[in-house]
Amino acid sequence: GDPDLAADVLAGLRDIPDFPVNGVVFKDFTPVLLDHALRSRIIADVVDRRRGQVDVVAGIEARGFILGAVIAHELGVGFVPVRKEGKLPSAVHAQSYSLEYGTATLEIHQDAVSHGERVLVVDDVLATGGTLAATCELVERCGASVAAIELVLEIGPLEGRSKLTGYDVRSTVTI
Ligand code: PRP
Repeated sequence: GDPDLAADVLAGLRDIPDFPVNGVVFKDFTPVLLDHALRSRIIADVVDRRRGQVDVVAGIEARGFILGAVIAHELGVGFVPVRKEGKLPSAVHAQSYSLEYGTATLEIHQDAVSHGERVLVVDDVLATGGTLAATCELVERCGASVAAIELVLEIGPLEGRSKLTGYDVRSTVTI
């Protein structure tokens, strides 16, 4: 265990007022990425918890790629990018989801994960939960199962967790 990890990550996040729009305080985790020791502790925490329990890691564009790829490397399993619409070159499954205004679409290669595989889904932030719910749907449409979801930051009041009932959802920090 690493009892100080949550407090140290929280201290490493940088508040950016009025980004991306007026009135929103954006939690910037780029300082955490820059800090090798802190980043290593986040990775070790996830890897210790999930070792031997997953066959592949799926990271969500764009910030989920950064930690997801490192976690996949440390676990010794493959990495699958879940991308925004139109970016993946081969046959995809596509899933639309709601944003605060309008909708967005995420895609996964149909052959990226195999039937019955256990997938660890990784992203930086759980906000409203739309992004993660769509990603879980994509994994399941490939015939695979979501073994767990790992996040750095969970914004509790947005209740994204309510869109992810039945999944093992773990966040390094909840605010
Ligand atoms: C952010 C974040 C998550 C998602 C969470 O990504 O990295 O993927 O939003 O929001 P939700 O829980 O309300 O769905 P963003 O769409 O900003 O994409 P980016 O990482 O490519 O900048």
